[in-house]
Amino acid sequence: MQTRTLGQNLDVAAIGFGAMGMSMSYGPNPGSREDMIGVLRYAVERGVTLIDTAEVYGPYDNEKLVGEAIAPLRDQVKVATKFGWNIVDGAMQGTNSRPEQIRRVADESLQRLGVDAIDLFYQHRVDPNVPIEEVAGTVGELVAAGKVKHFGLSEAGAQTIRRAHSTFPVTALQSEYSLWTRDPEAEILPTLKELGIGFVPFSPLGKGFLTGTITPDTTFSAGEFRLSTPRFTPENLTANQALVDQVRALASGRGATPGQVALAWLLAQGDFIVPIPGTRRRDRIDENLGAADLQLTVAEIAELNTLADRVGVAGERYSEAGLKMVGL
Ligand SMILES: NC(=O)c1ccc[n+]([C@@H]2O[C@H](COP(=O)([O-])OP(=O)(O)OC[C@H]3O[C@@H](n4cnc5c(N)ncnc54)[C@H](OP(=O)(O)O)[C@@H]3O)[C@@H](O)[C@H]2O)c1
Repeated sequence: MQTRTLGQNLDVAAIGFGAMGMSMSYGPNPGSREDMIGVLRYAVERGVTLIDTAEVYGPYDNEKLVGEAIAPLRDQVKVATKFGWNIVDGAMQGTNSRPEQIRRVADESLQRLGVDAIDLFYQHRVDPNVPIEEVAGTVGELVAAGKVKHFGLSEAGAQTIRRAHSTFPVTALQSEYSLWTRDPEAEILPTLKELGIGFVPFSPLGKGFLTGTITPDTTFSAGEFRLSTPRFTPENLTANQALVDQVRALASGRGATPGQVALAWLLAQGDFIVPIPGTRRRDRIDENLGAADLQLTVAEIAELNTLADRVGVAGERYSEAGLKMVGL
C-alpha cells in the first residue's frame, strides 16, 4: 500500500485500522478474543501500519487487545490512542484533560498497550474547562520524556487546532468524515492543509452504511450505537438508500464495492488523509484495503461530491443523548 505522511513525519500506510468495534458500539463480536487478535494481526499482515484505539474503548479492554495483538509486530505498526474522559464505573462521565489526568492516562495506556511510547496521543474531545494550550503543553512534556511521539486532536474546531498547534505541533486531527458527513470540508480541511496537519477520518464507511450492507430491515443488537442514531432509524435508512444506491451504481461500473468507493473518495480529498475503517472480519479487511488501489476519475469524484447535496442525507449523525455522551 502507498504511504502517506501525517503532520511532519508520521509515515503510515494510506488506510489504517480502527479497533473500537471489537470492544464497543457494534454489538457482539463475530468471534472470540483470540479471533479478534488474529483479525488485528491480519490487518498488519495485509499492510496496515496505523491502529487506532482509545482508553475509553471498552473501557480499557481495547487497548489491552491491541497491545496483545501488536506485541510480536511492534516494529511494523504505529499505535494511536486517546485521553480526555473521566471514566467512572466503566462509563464516560464528561471530559477531563487536566494535566495530571493526561499524564496518568499516558502511563496507564503505555502499560495496557505494552509499548515504550505511544506513537500518536489524541485528546479525544476538547475539554471546555482546560485551555488547549495547557493540554498541548502537557503532551509536549510527554513527548520530551519519550512517552509519546506525536500529538493529535479529535473533533476540535479550527481555532482550537490553531491554538494547540502554536503551542506544540499537532500531527493529526481525527474527526468524522465520509460521503454522508462532510462537515470538515468548510473550515477544517483548509486549516489542516495550511498548517501541515494530517487528517484521520473516523467512521469513514458511515458506520457501515456506505458499504451498502445495511437496509431498513437490518436489525441492530441491543446496546448497539446505531440503534439510537437518527440516521439508522428504518425511516431514515429508507430515505438514505438513494445515496448508497448511487454509490453502488458507480462502484459496479468500476468493478468495486460501495465501501471501496467511499474510502477511495476520502483518499482523493488530499494526500494528508488516512481513513481508519473498522471491521471484525478478515474478508472485509481485504475489501477495505483494496480501496487504496482504486483511483477515481475527476468526473467520478465530481459526481460523488455533488451526491449528498443532490439526494440529501436524512437524520442527524448523533441523537441528543448521543451528542452529550460523546462530548459534542
Ligand atoms: N475519535 C472519535 O471520536 C471516534 C469515534 C468513532 C470511531 N472512531 C474510530 O474510527 C474507527 C472507525 O469508525 P467506526 O468503526 O465507527 O465506523 P466505520 O469504520 O465507518 O464502520 C464500521 C462498521 O462497518 C462495518 N464494516 C466494515 N467494513 C465493512 C465492509 N467492507 N462491508 C460491510 N460492512 C463493513 C463494521 O462491521 P464489522 O465489524 O462487523 O465488519 C462496522 O459495523 C473506530 O474503530 C475508531 O477507532 C473514533
